Amino acid sequence: MIISGKELATEVKQRLAAEVAEYDKKYGRVPHLVVVLVGNDPASVSYVTGKAKDSEEVGFKSTTIKKPDTISEEELIALIEELNEDKEVDGILVQLPLPKHISESRIIETISHEKDVDGFHPLNVAALWQKQEGVVACTPKGVIELLDKAGIEIEGKRAVVIGRSNIVGLPVSKLLLDRNATVTIAHSRTKNLAEITRQAEILVVAIGRPKFVKADMVSEGVVIMDVGVNRDPETGKLCGDVDFEGCKDKASVITPVPGGCGPMTRACLLENTIECYLRQMNK
Ligand code: GUN
Repeated sequence: MIISGKELATEVKQRLAAEVAEYDKKYGRVPHLVVVLVGNDPASVSYVTGKAKDSEEVGFKSTTIKKPDTISEEELIALIEELNEDKEVDGILVQLPLPKHISESRIIETISHEKDVDGFHPLNVAALWQKQEGVVACTPKGVIELLDKAGIEIEGKRAVVIGRSNIVGLPVSKLLLDRNATVTIAHSRTKNLAEITRQAEILVVAIGRPKFVKADMVSEGVVIMDVGVNRDPETGKLCGDVDFEGCKDKASVITPVPGGCGPMTRACLLENTIECYLRQMNK
């Protein structure tokens, strides 16, 4: 079974659009997401354009603020502080990566944790690890929603996560643990990685290496969630961290790239914006 994240994301967006129309009647304004883009890296421009389009599709107010890559850290911080104070702004997302002269961690810490729709602020990260209410990062949340929507039981399963980043590997591992899976966190330097991945009933891969997971690394019936977005060095086309063609006949469920986890990440950004908006409205 190939899970189309695209179809599920469309369903989520339809539901959110209906909710937004109700919130507008109840609270007198729609959720407002502000995306800040520094510089003009083509991949970042494309992501930011997608986020604005998704926001408008579900009826949000969407603002994109573009700044040249010569902006100083202080100027960017001043802009974020202004947005933090603005009662008409519910979500703030600063597109990463940032130019080298700007500290990403300082920027992430400056965004109010209540408007941090990425779920990257240390208070939101801490909330996840302490099982408190907070904003959960979009990609990990999207992976769990995809598993749920595909009807895959998580409880009691052996899950292996390849990748230990703050953005995907670690939070997705925590979410799987909270759902009572038994989780092994591996990485590209794990010894005898294939022995470990072959034990996985659920395999999540987020290391950013094209077609890293080959058919001989997985067992029959595995559920594979491929979070990678890479360029295939041979064809130049988008591909995941998993050799899709090689693995698809062994897997019971697999996500394609593009069209698998990516669209759900985008849908979760919309969900997070609504959560931030509702918390602000119900204060
Ligand atoms: N750059 C690539 N992915 C992301 C993301 O999810 N959030 C932000 N802020 N920047 C990114």
